[in-house]
Amino acid sequence: SGQPFQLRNRLPFAAVPVTRADTITVPAGFSAKTFIPWGTPICGSYPAFLEDASNSAEDQAQQTGMHHDGMHFFPMDARFKGRKSDHGLLVLNHEYIDAPLLHPSGPTVVNGKRVDADEVRKEINAHGVSVVEVRRGPQGDWSVLPSARNRRITGATPMHIEGPARGHELMQTRYSPSGTSTRGTLNNCSNGYTPWGTYLTCEENWAGYFAADDAELPRHLERYGLRSSGRYGWETVRGDEFERFDATATAADARADYRNEPNTFGWIVEIDPFDPDSTPVKHTALGRFGHEGLVFAPTKPGWPLVCYSGDDSQNEYIYKYISRDKYRPQRSDGRLLDDGTLYVARFNPDGSGDWLALDIEDAAFQQACAAANVSFADQGEVLINTRLAADVVGATKMDRPEWGAVHPDTGEVYFTLTNNSSRQEADAANPRAPNPTGHIIRWREEGKNQVGTRFQWDLYLLAGPQSDSRDPRGRPLTDENIMASPDGLWFDEEGRLWIQTDMSGSQLRSGPFGNNQMLVSDPKSGETKRFLVGPKGAEVTGITATPDFRTLFVNIQHPGEGSTPTEYTSTWPDGPGRRPRSATVIITRDDGKRIL
Ligand code: FEO
Ligand code: CA
Ligand code: CA
Ligand code: CA
Repeated sequence: SGQPFQLRNRLPFAAVPVTRADTITVPAGFSAKTFIPWGTPICGSYPAFLEDASNSAEDQAQQTGMHHDGMHFFPMDARFKGRKSDHGLLVLNHEYIDAPLLHPSGPTVVNGKRVDADEVRKEINAHGVSVVEVRRGPQGDWSVLPSARNRRITGATPMHIEGPARGHELMQTRYSPSGTSTRGTLNNCSNGYTPWGTYLTCEENWAGYFAADDAELPRHLERYGLRSSGRYGWETVRGDEFERFDATATAADARADYRNEPNTFGWIVEIDPFDPDSTPVKHTALGRFGHEGLVFAPTKPGWPLVCYSGDDSQNEYIYKYISRDKYRPQRSDGRLLDDGTLYVARFNPDGSGDWLALDIEDAAFQQACAAANVSFADQGEVLINTRLAADVVGATKMDRPEWGAVHPDTGEVYFTLTNNSSRQEADAANPRAPNPTGHIIRWREEGKNQVGTRFQWDLYLLAGPQSDSRDPRGRPLTDENIMASPDGLWFDEEGRLWIQTDMSGSQLRSGPFGNNQMLVSDPKSGETKRFLVGPKGAEVTGITATPDFRTLFVNIQHPGEGSTPTEYTSTWPDGPGRRPRSATVIITRDDGKRIL
């Protein structure tokens, strides 16, 4: 009819400006509501949250934990590939704690030691994962259902160990002399979810929870940065449940102490949210490092399963796993994550890339080990020392790999590299030294062959101030999208990339970026716009949606970071005078339609 063809506007909202307001800011026409903040009763006797933070350790194990992070919405009929949007299980991580806010007057420390066992137990219980059955009412409002499915998994919940390191002598502890189980999951950052409807939680900065005071640390502790004391001092309390955080060798036999306890952390943990009696499983075939998250390539029935995971630490690596067995809908389960090959990425300067196998039976790996004079007794030992194995094959040291996301149509993989103040030499894939503001890298497997070992990569976006940034179209970032330290990453079903930031320190306090934020970027057009700004001191992290895309769930972590028990740098979400709390935010459109 003579009308020129026009692409549909895929980002039809006005970008919100940079702000340091102590609130959630979303575009006109959208609303944001707080949901399940830290301390929300979800199970057991449903103990109410006490404003002065005087809930006991036992209460905390029946309430949502602190520091919400990665999250996934499972439709109630997910097991049958259903897409029910009004009823489901919201499953989320509680990465760590803000001890000054967790207790009425902060933690009690006497002569450098923790003296109140119940206080420490509360801290352990504020970690882990929450499973919450939720329902959307006719007015579009969400509520928590009292449900036998609601569950808290904590830093003390018993877990199985599976895969090549199961039963390994480096996994044997006083708690599990057979090396087949452990207690708890810690520092659960980003997440994943399997094609068979289970949740994956990822152990990131677990090393900081342990103490190891031996004069010389074994490589499986030293390479992961263990120190002589733990970040919260849990190891200073007497009793087996706390002494396990001290990895100092004290007995003649590893089965009589906890020197190997840290080896039972650093894994991907699978949780079946639909079975509250199930025991979580640590899948060792996926490697041991500072796992940020785990994302799957599009699954193809009859093909192996392929997934990607980043190690979020300065100058660490990006990994890929290919299952040995084939994915079969309705038949496959977590065993696909127990037998396969782990690869690490090398990003070549010419834009090509190689996946290098970390497999004791692989000839190239054996040669690399011989050349480096490094030896591993078996594949279990390779996996317990994943970082060292990746060093040996010459993988590319990255600027802190955080979340990944896989484009639903093209299968291209995007990863945030949040920043790296320690980088001394730039390379093609990490082009700034140092890199205080981060970037987003992307790759496609050669020939779209997900099970191959070659890929092509490019840089999608360089975050930073206008003078030192590049949007997907090759131009500097603008008022609409200036950002730093990209971290959370997620594709909606229409292939729009959602980016969440985690700036801290001076980047947050002053300069052009304002509070942490969430943006949307359209890889089709390169257009990128700020959609949300979080409250003071908070990181924006964790994102999931209902299948109908009428509800978007986003997590706000550590609002008011740096607060004391009596002075709060933020009072979000409850308002003046009240202690800040991490929380989920429910975002809807005022007209009730799809978010975008
Ligand atoms: Fe927990 Fe890498 O952020
Ligand atoms: Ca975090
Ligand atoms: Ca993160
Ligand atoms: Ca981060």
